[in-house]
Amino acid sequence: MFERFLVGPHLEFGGVKLEEIVDTVGTPVYILDAAVIRARCQAFRKAAPDAHLAYASKANSTLAVLDIVRQEGFDVDAASMGEMEAALRAGFKGPQITLHGNAKNDAELDSAAKLPVRRVVIDNAEEIDRLALFSEAIKKKTSVLVRVAPGVDPKTHMAISTGQEDTKFGFSLTSGAALEAVKAIKKHKSLKFCGLHFHIGSQLMNSMDHVAAVKRVASFAEEMGKIEDLVVGGGLGVRYTPEDEPQAIQHFVDSIMHAAEIGFKGKPPKIGFEPGRAIVGEAGTTIYRVMVRKQVGRKTYLTVDGGLADNPRPQLYEAQYMAFNATRPSEDHFKEFKLVGHHCETDTLIESAMLPKATEVGDLIAVPSTGAYGAAMASNYNRYPRPATVVVENRKAFIAVHRETIDQMFVNERLR
Ligand code: LLP
Repeated sequence: MFERFLVGPHLEFGGVKLEEIVDTVGTPVYILDAAVIRARCQAFRKAAPDAHLAYASKANSTLAVLDIVRQEGFDVDAASMGEMEAALRAGFKGPQITLHGNAKNDAELDSAAKLPVRRVVIDNAEEIDRLALFSEAIKKKTSVLVRVAPGVDPKTHMAISTGQEDTKFGFSLTSGAALEAVKAIKKHKSLKFCGLHFHIGSQLMNSMDHVAAVKRVASFAEEMGKIEDLVVGGGLGVRYTPEDEPQAIQHFVDSIMHAAEIGFKGKPPKIGFEPGRAIVGEAGTTIYRVMVRKQVGRKTYLTVDGGLADNPRPQLYEAQYMAFNATRPSEDHFKEFKLVGHHCETDTLIESAMLPKATEVGDLIAVPSTGAYGAAMASNYNRYPRPATVVVENRKAFIAVHRETIDQMFVNERLR
C-alpha cells in the first residue's frame, strides 16, 4: 500500500520529499495529498453528474481541505456552529451548506435560518417549532429535510452504526414518527419540506445497506407528499489495510441510483450523497518518529511520538491500520512489531505492524489513510499540542495547520 509513495530511494508525497516536510514541521505530522482529494471528488461527480454532492466536513474540516472540495464543486455538510463557520471561512456561501446535528442549539438554528443554509436536516420534533420561530422572526422560509431511521442495521462498528431502528438519530419510519414530523413541518408557513435524509453508518465496504435503506424509504415515501430530495448520507469506506476492499465509487453510486429509480417507480427524487471518509481518508498519512524500541517477552514494542491524541480511532472503534518505515522503505517489512503511542494508557496504534527488522529509535514511521477523523478528533491528552497538517500538491507543500504551541493550550485558562 505504500509503494505509491516511493520514488527511487526516497519517499515523496505529492512530489515533495518527506525529509523536507519533516525537517520543516517535525513529527508527528498529518500529510494530506490534495490530488487524492480532488480525484475522489471528481470520481463522485463523474459517477453522479446529476446528484447533489456535499462533503461531510466532520471527517476533516481543515480550512485547506474545505477549500479544495469547494474548488471541486462540492457543497458541504456541517454538524455544528463550528463546522458552519469553517465552511464560511473556506469560502462556501450559506446556500451551499446543509446543517445536521441531533441536538442543534438556538444559535445554530438561528444562524441556519439567517444565512440561510441550503437545508436544515430535522432530527427531532422539538427542533421543528424552534426553527420555525427563528425563520418567522426574519420573515424567511427555511428549507428542511427530515432525517429518518430506515431500520437497516449496517455491518460496521457499533459506534458508527446509525441506520438501525434503535438509534438516537432521526425519526422512525415504521412507528409513523417520520410521517408525523413531515406533517408538523407542513403546518409551518416558515418551513419548506424538501425531502428525506438518512445516514446508516460509516466505513461500509459496499452499498448493500444503502440499497436496502433506499427501498425501505421509497416504500414509506408516498404518504409524505412530494419529495424533492433524498439524501443517502455518507458511509463508503476506505482502505486502511490491504485487506480492506471498498467498492469503487462508480459502483457504489450506480447501485444506489438504480435502487432509487426502481423504488420510486421511475420518478426518483434528486439524490444527495454526503461522503466524508471516502473523500479525504486515503489522502492523509501520519508521520511519527520512533522514540523507544523495547523487547517485552517475545514481542518487540515500538513507541512513537504520537498515538491516542492524534488518532483515537484504534481505541474507539478497534480500527485497523498498517504502517511502514519511512526511513528505510526499501528494506523488507517482515518483522512484527507492536506499534504503540506515547500516552499514559495502553494506546496501541497497531497490534501487529510489519516493519524492517532494523527499525530503530529515530526512524520515521508512516501510517497511511489517516485523512479522515484523525485531525478532526484529535485532543490534547497529556497536554500534547496537536500536530501540524501539511498539504502537498504539484511538488509544493504548505503548512495548512501549524503545530499547536504549548502556550496555545493555555490561552483560555486562569489560575483563579
Ligand atoms: N452524513 C452524516 C449525516 C453523517 O453523520 C456522516 C458521518 C457522514 C455523512 C459522513 O460519513 P462518512 O462518509 O465519513 O462515512 N468518527 C467516526 C466516524 C463517524 C461518522 C459520523 N457521521 C470514525 O472515525 O470512524
